[in-house]
Amino acid sequence: METKIVALTGNDNTNIYETAAEVLKQGGLVAFPTETVYGIGANALKPDVVRKIYAAKGRPSDNPLIVHIGHASEVAHYVASIPDIAYPLMEAFWPGPLTLIFEKNELIPDLITGGLSTVAIRVPSHPVARGIIEASGLPIAAPSANLSGKPSPTIASHVIEDLNGRVDMIVDGGDAQIGLESTVLDLTQPLPMILRPGGVTKTMLEAVIGEVAYDPHLLDSHAEEAPKAPGMKYRHYAPKGQLTVFKGRGQEVIEHINQKAEAAKQKGLSVGIIATKEDADQYKCGLVQVIGSANKPDEIAANLFKVLRTMDQLKVDVILTRDFSEEAIGTATMNRLLKAAGNRQIEVGD
Ligand code: TXA
Ligand code: MG
Repeated sequence: METKIVALTGNDNTNIYETAAEVLKQGGLVAFPTETVYGIGANALKPDVVRKIYAAKGRPSDNPLIVHIGHASEVAHYVASIPDIAYPLMEAFWPGPLTLIFEKNELIPDLITGGLSTVAIRVPSHPVARGIIEASGLPIAAPSANLSGKPSPTIASHVIEDLNGRVDMIVDGGDAQIGLESTVLDLTQPLPMILRPGGVTKTMLEAVIGEVAYDPHLLDSHAEEAPKAPGMKYRHYAPKGQLTVFKGRGQEVIEHINQKAEAAKQKGLSVGIIATKEDADQYKCGLVQVIGSANKPDEIAANLFKVLRTMDQLKVDVILTRDFSEEAIGTATMNRLLKAAGNRQIEVGD
C-alpha cells in the first residue's frame, strides 16, 4: 500500500485533520502523534478495521488496544459502568497520559480487548491527536506506532521506518513530548492497580484517590501470576544489540561499565554506551549516546526510545547503561529500560 506522509506546517491544520479523519471513516489506518508516543489509529468499532492494526504491527491479537476518545463524557457509551473513583481521575488527568480500564459493554468488539471483558480508554492531550479524533467523530483504537517488539516511536521518522507501506497515512506532528506510553490504571480491581507505569505517577494518582497498588509484576518480574496488562508480558522496546543495565551509584558503576566495554571490544564486538550529560566524558571506549541530564527525569524519559533506536542505527552488538533515578516518571523509564534489557541487570557494589 502507498502511505501518504503529511507534515504539519502552519497553525491551521484543519485540512490535515479532516483528511486523516476521512481515511479513518473509510476504514483506513492513520499514524499520528500523541503526547506520549505516536499511535496507529483505526475505527475502534469495526473488527475488520481493527484486525488491520494487528497485521500492520505484526502484533499478537491477545494483546488488547487502548480506545482513544475526545472527551470523558464519551466513556459512558463504551463501558458497562463507571466506578465513582473514575470521576476525580478523569477530572484531574484527562486529557493526558492516563489510560483507565473499565468493564466494557457490547459496542466494543472482542478483538479490541483480546477477548477480555474490560476495555482500556484514554483522552489524549496532544492537539494533533485531538484534532484527528474530533474530526472523525469516532472512538479510535491506537497502539503505539512501532512494529511489535521495537521501541515505541517518539518522532515521525521512527514511524516511517517501521510502518511506511503498512498504513494509509502518517501525520508528522513533531516530537511526542513525554516519550513513554501512558500510565495504565485498572479500575476493575477492589484497589485501583497500575498495570503499566507512565507519566501520571503513583504519587500523583494517590493524591487524588488515595491508595493505589502496583501490579506485583512491576515490583518483581518473577511474580507468580502473569502481568495483568497482556502487553507487559512481551519483550517490548527491544533494541537489536544486547542491552545490560548496571545498577549502582557513583564512580564504581562507571568504572565497571568501562571494564565491560573494554572486554567486549577485545572480543571484536562494537559497544554502545548510554550516558547522562554529567558522566558522558568519563566513558573510555564505545559509542557514547547522551540520554539527558541525571537531574531531569523528564528529559531522560523523553529520550529513552530515541537513544535505543539510535543504537540500532549504529549497529552496536552490545549496549551498556547505568540505571537512572526512579523519581517521578523515572519509575516508568526504568520499567521500559529493564524490559528492553530483557531484565538483564547487574548490581555493582552493594
Ligand atoms: O500512550 C499510550 O498509551 C500509547 C498512545 C498511542 O496512546 N498507546 C499504547 O498502546 O501504548 P499499546 O497498545 O502499545 O499498549 C497498550 C497497553 C498494553 O500493555 C495492553 O496490554 C494494555 O495497554 N491493555 C489494553 N487494554 C487492556 C485491558 N483491557 N486490560 C489490561 N491491559 C490492557
Ligand atoms: Mg506498544
